[in-house]
Amino acid sequence: MKPWPHKHILSLSNFSKDDYLSVLELAHKFNSINKTGTKKVPALQGLLVTSIFFEASTRTKHSFELAAKRLSSDLQSFSPSTSSLSKGETYLDTALTYSAMGSDVLIVRHSVSNVPLEIAEKLASKKFKTSVLNAGDGTHSHPSQGLLDLYTLSKFFDPNNINPDTLCNKTILIVGDVLHSRVARSNIWALTAFGANIILCGPEKLVPQEFNTFVQSLPLNQTKDPIYQRGKIEISRSLEESIKNADAIISLRLQKERMKENFLESIDSYSEKYCLTSEKLNLISKKIPILHPGPVNRGIEISSKIVDEYPYCLITEQVSNGVPVRMALLYLLSKYNKN
Ligand code: CP
Repeated sequence: MKPWPHKHILSLSNFSKDDYLSVLELAHKFNSINKTGTKKVPALQGLLVTSIFFEASTRTKHSFELAAKRLSSDLQSFSPSTSSLSKGETYLDTALTYSAMGSDVLIVRHSVSNVPLEIAEKLASKKFKTSVLNAGDGTHSHPSQGLLDLYTLSKFFDPNNINPDTLCNKTILIVGDVLHSRVARSNIWALTAFGANIILCGPEKLVPQEFNTFVQSLPLNQTKDPIYQRGKIEISRSLEESIKNADAIISLRLQKERMKENFLESIDSYSEKYCLTSEKLNLISKKIPILHPGPVNRGIEISSKIVDEYPYCLITEQVSNGVPVRMALLYLLSKYNKN
C-alpha cells in the first residue's frame, strides 16, 4: 500500500487518485472481513478514537463508531446535550479536552463550515498530534460520504474489482438542494476525479449556475489540484430531460434547517418538478442506480415507491458500505507518518 499522505481528512479537494484507491481497496478488504463470522480485527488496538458530533447524525456517527469497534480501537462518544457545552464550553475547548486525554483521532461534525479545519489548526498550535476526521461541516464537506458513494457506484458498475475508473465518461445526475449540500460537494470532487461527468439539477436558487465551475475553485490553503483532468459539470433545470442522459442518480435531501431565506415557492411545486418518482424514471428504458445519502424526506425529493421497491435503489447498500469505508479511513489515518 502507498504511504498515506494526509494527517487530517477535511475535504476531498486534495485527494489524489492514489488516495482514493487506497481507501477503496482497503474498504473492499474490510468489507470481506465484515462478511465473515469474525468481523472484529485487532488492527487498531490501543488507538483512541473520539466522536464529537455537535450536530445530529444517525448514519455517520454510528458507522464511524462501529468502524472503530470493528478495528478494536478504544472509543469515546460525546453527546452535546450531556456534555459541558451546556455549561458554556466552546467546541474548540471540547476538542482540546479530548486531545489532552490522548485521543488519536477526533471525528468531528458541526453545523458550521470549516470547524474541523479550525479544530485541526488549534490542536496543531498546542502541539497535539491528534488527527481530525471531518464527519460533515456545514455546507462545506462530507468526505466519508463522498468516498462511500464512490465505493458504492464503483461496485455497482464493476462488482468484482471496485474500480472507480469504470466511472470515466459516465454521467451522474445529482438532483436537489445542491446549494446546502456538503454531500454534493464531496461527491463532485470524488466522481470528477475519475472522469465522471456531473449534471446538477434543480431550481436556480438551490442550484446556482456558478456551480458549473465548482472544481476550479480550490480552498484558500490549497494551491494545486492533484487531479490532472476532471469530468465536466453541467447545470440543468429539468429532471425529466436530465434523467434521459444519466447513468446514475444521486437524490439530495431538501435541507430546510440550513435555509435562512425562502428558497422555494412551495414544497409541492418543488416536488412536482424534482421529486424522483417511478413516473419520471419510466421515461427511460435502462435501469440505473439511485443513491441518496439519507436521511430521506419521502415524497419530497424521492418517492417511497422508489425507496422501497425500485431494485436498483442503493440506499441501504450505501449505509452498509459506510462501515468498511470508515474502517479504511481510521486505519489509514493511524498509519500517517508510519509508512
Ligand atoms: N448521510 C448522513 O450524513 O447521514 P446522517 O446525518 O444520519 O449521519
